[in-house]
Amino acid sequence: MNPTIINGTEISRIIREEIATEVAVLKSDHNLIPGLAVVLVGDDPASAVYVRNKGRACEEVGIYSETINLPSTTTQSELLNKISDLNQDPRFHGVLVQLPLPTHISQRSIILSLDPKKDVDGLHPINVGRLVEGNPNFIPCTPAGIQQLLMRSGQDPAGKHLVVCGRSDIVGKPIAIMMMQKQEGANATVTICHTGTKNLGDITRSADILVAAIGRPRSITADMVTDGVVVIDVGINRVEDSSRRSGYRLVGDVDFEEVSKKSMAITPVPGGVGPMTIAMLLTNTVKAARLTLETSN
Ligand code: GUN
Repeated sequence: MNPTIINGTEISRIIREEIATEVAVLKSDHNLIPGLAVVLVGDDPASAVYVRNKGRACEEVGIYSETINLPSTTTQSELLNKISDLNQDPRFHGVLVQLPLPTHISQRSIILSLDPKKDVDGLHPINVGRLVEGNPNFIPCTPAGIQQLLMRSGQDPAGKHLVVCGRSDIVGKPIAIMMMQKQEGANATVTICHTGTKNLGDITRSADILVAAIGRPRSITADMVTDGVVVIDVGINRVEDSSRRSGYRLVGDVDFEEVSKKSMAITPVPGGVGPMTIAMLLTNTVKAARLTLETSN
């Protein structure tokens, strides 16, 4: 089979153009400049790259953004104070705390401290609850990006068996919840697999659409899929590669070379889900800014 490569770089470029137009309208019609604060605690190199890319993407579409770099020794109460300031700062409509946090800080406490109206990651329990209700305010960025990839590449999940591998709060759980809703861009029959799943291959082989969000390189192999599957690979794993100057390269959770031979459509890594996550962060930031207009009228 000659698979369609679902081009996240191109789809995200189109979305970012749409956002730039919307930002220009907010500026000209309402004198409103959407703003995003990104908080990075510590010096994890992968997180530093993600945060830099987020700042750059904001700048390109006209969103005001600031990155707050805090040392890895930052205490939980110092971080809570910082978030409290950002919650009250009118320049910022969105506040994002890059995860994972150092282990001495409770991720849950930090998420709970975010103003739900500024929680552009969609991780606060209020926003999770609204997603479950089918009335979301902010959809977590990676699942939102997956939905856009499917819809904009002509792979409507309605009526399909969509299998999610992975049950993280940031990808697995929300994508499963979204895809089961009786809504456009969803209405799939959803199965969630995880580390406790028995006979994983039997389930993944029954997938029309397979979302791999496991966090382990090349864990989905060709024997685990059926011909004609649509594969969304969420993994971004660094594997050693001495032929590269950096000493590593990025691979997904899917064995792309072999699985793609059986796929109808598949996302590459890099250039699939990754760029979409940033595009949806911009979308959520603009939405947060627009919401302040609605509440002030
Ligand atoms: N770390 C990896 N992905 C994400 C994300 O989408 N949001 C945040 N806050 N941290 C992340």
